Amino acid sequence: MHTLYESDDLLNQYLLFHYASKERLFPYNFPISEALDFSKRCVWEGVDFDLLPNKARALDLGCSVGRSAFEMTQMFDSVVGIDYSETFIDAAKILKNTGRLAVDRLVSGLQSISEEVVLEPDVQRDRVSFEVGNAENLREDLGDFDCVLACNLICRLSNPKALLDRLSSLVRPNGQLFMTTPFTWLESFTPKDRWLGANAEDSFSGLREALEGQGGFKLLKSWDMPFLIREHSRKFQFSIAQASRWVRIDE
Ligand SMILES: C[S@@+](CC[C@H](N)C(=O)[O-])C[C@H]1O[C@@H](n2cnc3c(N)ncnc32)[C@H](O)[C@@H]1O
Repeated sequence: MHTLYESDDLLNQYLLFHYASKERLFPYNFPISEALDFSKRCVWEGVDFDLLPNKARALDLGCSVGRSAFEMTQMFDSVVGIDYSETFIDAAKILKNTGRLAVDRLVSGLQSISEEVVLEPDVQRDRVSFEVGNAENLREDLGDFDCVLACNLICRLSNPKALLDRLSSLVRPNGQLFMTTPFTWLESFTPKDRWLGANAEDSFSGLREALEGQGGFKLLKSWDMPFLIREHSRKFQFSIAQASRWVRIDE
């Protein structure tokens, strides 16, 4: 299993990516606002709440340090966040228990500013649980969900098809799946012959084929979602994820 997401540098990057205000994340006047608050937008733009039943249950796969899962507690009765990084899940659990967590915001070189990320007051912390788990080999007794999020996860898996195959049993009939991915295929994560869409010639077609074929999903909508990850005060990763919302067909 890859250890990239266990490092302190990545923990701090993701805490800021998920929770930092614009002033802390990008204190410049360049027009970038549409790329901020990605993990929050994944919930509020990604899920069609009109299609959900009452007392709905949600799953955030590859939840990292938890922002989307916390966000979903405002609309779902219960939410499970799963990530294979123990470092990230430990951070999400501290946020669940205390509502805040220390973070080091790297300025440059060895200089960083110690501060805190804080959950917003609308978050219902008692509705969420976090656990370490492998999205390609989830525990059998996880149950099923009215909504599953898998944001920027699929191109980090060693076998994306394994997850796509499991989704039809994770998402209830008429339930929703929301995915984002920049399709950043890397052989260090995914062997080339498993890149979706004929070695990534057309990754979205590959994704669609898998989900609409045996997966039993129908595509409701797909669009572009920019996001910004801060590395240090003068370096940012700007990416554009392919976002897609699916419904599981009730047969
Ligand atoms: C690019 S990050 C995206 C995190 C979050 N969903 C977001 O949009 O900010 C990928 C995440 O997936 C997690 N991850 C990678 N492979 C995984 C696997 N096999 N099972 C569960 N989580 C995994 C990593 O630890 C990391 O938190």
